[in-house]
Amino acid sequence: MAKFRTRYVCQNCGVESPKWMGRCPSCEAWNTYIEEVIEPEHEKTAESRRATGTSDHKVAQPLRIKTIESVEEQRIVTPDHELNRVLGGGIVPGSITLIGGEPGIGKSTLLLQLAVHLVGCKILYVSGEESAQQIKMRADRVDIQNDNCLILTETNLFQIFKQLKTVKPDLCIIDSIQTLVSSAIESTAGTVSQIRECASELQRYAKDSNVPVILVGHITKDGNIAGPKILEHMVDTVLQFEGEHHHAYRLLRTKKNRFGSTSELGIYEMQQNGLRQVSNPSELLISENADNLSGIGIGATIEGMRPLLIETQALVSHSAYGTPQRSATGFDSKRLNMLLAVLEKRCGFKFGDKDVFVNITGGLKVEDPAIDLSVICSLLSSFEDIAIPVGTCFTGEVGLSGEVRSVNRIEQRIMEADKLGFKRIFIPASNKGIDADKYTLKVIQVNNLNEVYDNLFA
Ligand code: TYD
Ligand code: MG
Repeated sequence: MAKFRTRYVCQNCGVESPKWMGRCPSCEAWNTYIEEVIEPEHEKTAESRRATGTSDHKVAQPLRIKTIESVEEQRIVTPDHELNRVLGGGIVPGSITLIGGEPGIGKSTLLLQLAVHLVGCKILYVSGEESAQQIKMRADRVDIQNDNCLILTETNLFQIFKQLKTVKPDLCIIDSIQTLVSSAIESTAGTVSQIRECASELQRYAKDSNVPVILVGHITKDGNIAGPKILEHMVDTVLQFEGEHHHAYRLLRTKKNRFGSTSELGIYEMQQNGLRQVSNPSELLISENADNLSGIGIGATIEGMRPLLIETQALVSHSAYGTPQRSATGFDSKRLNMLLAVLEKRCGFKFGDKDVFVNITGGLKVEDPAIDLSVICSLLSSFEDIAIPVGTCFTGEVGLSGEVRSVNRIEQRIMEADKLGFKRIFIPASNKGIDADKYTLKVIQVNNLNEVYDNLFA
């Protein structure tokens, strides 16, 4: 009997080695090597061709770029505007999209919702994670509007391709890529070689049949999509579904897109009956500061391409212990330390014996540096225990010398604040050429933190 040959594959980065290693020399991860059986090459390709039905492969010829016909791509425009937005206008035929996210964040809900709401399309929803009854229960919650949605609970890639050939869907959804097994590969589901093999077969299917495929991908502890990095190279679009479990908001971000911009953002709210698209997030993210509490500021930020007004809260209180606490939720804590140091050194506020807490409401994580000014003003407001007047918002990055630095797309930020009925906005003086008469709100240009302080609290 022929002896099996094996190899060890790093489950983190996909590097192979003939012997086991404790630490991967390539990605430096510990304990990631798993033994896999090496397939004889010819069997594997024959099997996979049989599976996809692509054995009569056309031989490609080089073409002059000018002679290639440019075709107007007909995207499938979904009823989900947020999804259309992050995909760059809809699902491109023959494309392959990967959606990654934490367990329980709502990936299956999002895609099942798409499958049962997309009228006029035949959809094959393949689930390797849930039974048909479980899927039906979920579908009932999100309201079924499409009679052409077929559910297949299967993990064997060969069987899936068989069904795809008979069903001939207009869209195929796979939940999830980590549960698929190709019989061409010995190893268990979820290993690097299985993921790579299944993804490349699905990619070939999508390109040959022009049917778009959407894959769900699990993520690892550190937030990357599980499986080899090559998975992200193979697909056309990578979307990331994120949010806090305890908050209802979910953000769908584009990480890679061959057919559109990567700076798009979709916002959803998880409700009893599925995910609801949030078209005007700012109104939801700002609570009414009717009681005039100190420590609350509103920052005009840009997430992706969308202007968002976000509430920042700060609490500065006397520290009972020797080492004061610094804590930030939704905001980089290193940046918070920097802002505190700027306030100490440049403006003379003493935070050395104070506990400082900063919180971005709504469970959002903000990376836009323009939120700095709002965080600073919340800190000062809490420090002085003077509320920031209602109807005030801020935008501006704060530099190490206490200067307020210019931000991008200032007009868009001012316009959003104006639209939401704010009375005044503090913006960096270095953002030149602002036509303040265009807006009903008052635009106040500031050079540094001392000017802001004098304006608000003096
Ligand atoms: P799910 O889509 O199963 O997540 P994933 O596929 O990313 O693991 O997420 C389901 C979660 O969403 C679950 O915790 C329950 C909640 N949920 C609602 O709140 N409302 C709903 O209508 C549905 C279908 C789910
Ligand atoms: Mg799921």
